[in-house]
Amino acid sequence: MRTNKFYGRDWISPELNYSKEEWESLIRLAEELKTRFALNEDTSNILDGQTLYAMFFNSSLRTRSTFATGIQQLGGNYIELEPGKTYTPARKGYEIPYKTERVSDVARVLSRTGDAIAIRMYGKASHWIYGFAHETLKEFAHWSDIPIINMEDDVFHPCQALADMLTIKEKFHDLKKKKFVISWAYSGSVEKPYAVPQSAALAPSLLGMDVVLARPKGFELDPMVTQKCKEYAQQNNSSFEETDDMEAAFENAHVVYPKSWGARNYFAQYDKNGNKTKEADLEGMKALFEKNKDWICDEEKMKLIDKNGIYMHCLPADRDMEVTDPVIDGPQSVVFDEAENRLHAQKAIMALLMGGRL
Ligand code: CP
Repeated sequence: MRTNKFYGRDWISPELNYSKEEWESLIRLAEELKTRFALNEDTSNILDGQTLYAMFFNSSLRTRSTFATGIQQLGGNYIELEPGKTYTPARKGYEIPYKTERVSDVARVLSRTGDAIAIRMYGKASHWIYGFAHETLKEFAHWSDIPIINMEDDVFHPCQALADMLTIKEKFHDLKKKKFVISWAYSGSVEKPYAVPQSAALAPSLLGMDVVLARPKGFELDPMVTQKCKEYAQQNNSSFEETDDMEAAFENAHVVYPKSWGARNYFAQYDKNGNKTKEADLEGMKALFEKNKDWICDEEKMKLIDKNGIYMHCLPADRDMEVTDPVIDGPQSVVFDEAENRLHAQKAIMALLMGGRL
């Protein structure tokens, strides 16, 4: 095993605590691993014999398939620990006798036998309390001796963001002076978390793109995120703007990323002692969604973007709600490149954090 400056670190909120240069290194390694995969090179020595434990509290197609495929291509083992079939990891105050096991115990047990723990958790699994899942991942990290990888929590989805930045890099090469629009879009479900839009606002800001956040009133992102985007824009001599006008945001954009997310005011809340002080109001949130059904990415809006501009979505997309078929299936759509790049991005993350032979 070789060590490097990434070795042993967690991948929970790298949008905040990995540098621009570190993101660029990861993108370069993902590109290299993608090329080696295309050339059918054997990369099974990189994480030979290492074990990734994966825990999904929520559904997944892309994340599950690409982590499983990726670790196997690097020579490691993928073991999925399904919450409910294992004792569901729980924080103090949320435990049920003989059904849950305290996070601190789960983390220390898995640290004795595995090499990294990857976790997905948001929504109902985190009691509809914004930030609860993110805190749970941090608690795992506190007790774990091996890296914790965020496979999407209720604040960030950094694996998606890395794959998205790789995709943008492949299309435009130079990110400077490129306009990236992350926009809210309508969905028939109110359950999509903040993770993708917050990571999608931060990662391009960190890497120097001109970022615009478009959302109706009530769908603002976490102020911590927008503040950080402004700081990154200042550091990069780029820009970060916020608007409630989807069409205006789309004008001359190089990248548009319209997708749905919830409205935080309707989530449950808890006090600093971890006690719930307000229940989630999903019906109230639904009513707010219904007022904004015109926030759909259609062919008319796509006419506003740069002629070489691209349409992005992390998938799964709600067709005829977030986006029309001609757009997502059209020539400007790169959604399947993004899905494919999840494999290469996550191989880069695992290879570096788990001390792979590179
Ligand atoms: N984009 C994404 O994370 O997809 P899955 O929910 O299928 O993993």
